[in-house]
Amino acid sequence: MVYPQAPLTRIQTYLTGYFKILEKLRLVLLGFGVVGQSFVKLLLSHSADLFNDYGIKPKVVACADNGGIVTSNQGLDLDRLLSVKKKKKSVIHYGSSESSSILDVIENMDAEVVIELTPTNIKDGEPGKTHIVTAMKSGKNVITVNKGPLALEFPSLVELADYNRIAFKFSGTVGGGTPILEFAKRCLKGDRILSFEGILNGTTNYILSKMFEGLNFSQALQDASEKGYAEKDPTLDIDGYDAVAKLVIASNLVMNMKSTMSDVKRTGIRNVQASDVTKERKKGNAIKLIATCDGKNLTVEPKAISTKDPICVDGILNAITFTCQHSGHQTIIGKGAGGMETASSILRDLIDIRNIIRS
Ligand SMILES: NC(=O)c1ccc[n+]([C@@H]2O[C@H](COP(=O)([O-])OP(=O)(O)OC[C@H]3O[C@@H](n4cnc5c(N)ncnc54)[C@H](OP(=O)(O)O)[C@@H]3O)[C@@H](O)[C@H]2O)c1
Repeated sequence: MVYPQAPLTRIQTYLTGYFKILEKLRLVLLGFGVVGQSFVKLLLSHSADLFNDYGIKPKVVACADNGGIVTSNQGLDLDRLLSVKKKKKSVIHYGSSESSSILDVIENMDAEVVIELTPTNIKDGEPGKTHIVTAMKSGKNVITVNKGPLALEFPSLVELADYNRIAFKFSGTVGGGTPILEFAKRCLKGDRILSFEGILNGTTNYILSKMFEGLNFSQALQDASEKGYAEKDPTLDIDGYDAVAKLVIASNLVMNMKSTMSDVKRTGIRNVQASDVTKERKKGNAIKLIATCDGKNLTVEPKAISTKDPICVDGILNAITFTCQHSGHQTIIGKGAGGMETASSILRDLIDIRNIIRS
């Protein structure tokens, strides 16, 4: 015979379940560079808010960089982890006795979420792709800001996540901390997005903004490098590959396209002449690297747009306009990169995953 629970027992059961959830948000961090370290700093500075506002008390139980991986079932000491990385260059000097490979840890560590933050590789997606696939196959939820695996294999990764019934979140892959993907998926819910276009790469936008002010391409590129906005090898940005990767991710998620990088018609900004910029400026236009999706065709190319167009933003900003069937044009603008900004997108994804685990 089953006896109904007394009210006090029911409350106890509820609380026990609730605190189990709090205890259970264990994270594996793969990649501990600009974004990984910013994320850990965010966890440290926001721990009280995370607990009070969202009931989250995450523990980082493993952390990897190029030197290897360290683990602790009790949770790594995050201040110490940051200090070891700063002083000794690799987390491997943290002092854990663990000598497993990264893939072993992903597969076997008791953890709810794997956060993949290794460098973007648009040739074969590695090492991020194998990290993500291994995490999914071992039933762990995944957050990533690494564009490579998604730009190359969006449909199969989403399918694998569904098959393994895990949450797969990647809001920081497009727009860094600016919630471009959530804006389209959540705020424009119920409406039909017909097309979108925008500036998805901050480095090229900075260079083109400087050209608008009168510099030529080489001077503007040098200025971007000195400010730390352009990499030593700026190919990914100036030849348009970074914008292409983001366009592919957005078109798959927002327009349900099954596209990959080879579907995008791409032209970078290398051949934009100072004289072209001046000519357009006199007409009230600026040349911008514009990514466009009309539901069928995907393009990244330098285009002259009116300086009055809401997506005509300057410096390292990103901006994107969604054209919707009922609500018309909707534009979102924000900084498209930055360690802390991108780390904030990981926190958003983590809160989503916590809600999924709880429901
Ligand atoms: N920075 C941004 O503003 C931004 C914005 C949006 C998206 N993203 C994306 O976020 C990801 C991380 O960016 P980031 O700026 O943090 O890059 P980063 O500073 O270069 O950090 C990359 C980290 O990955 C580690 N790593 C490299 N190869 C590895 C491997 N095989 N196994 C384990 N760890 C490995 C590196 O180790 P070492 O430290 O030992 O070298 C480093 O800790 C990239 O995919 C990037 O495209 C970055």
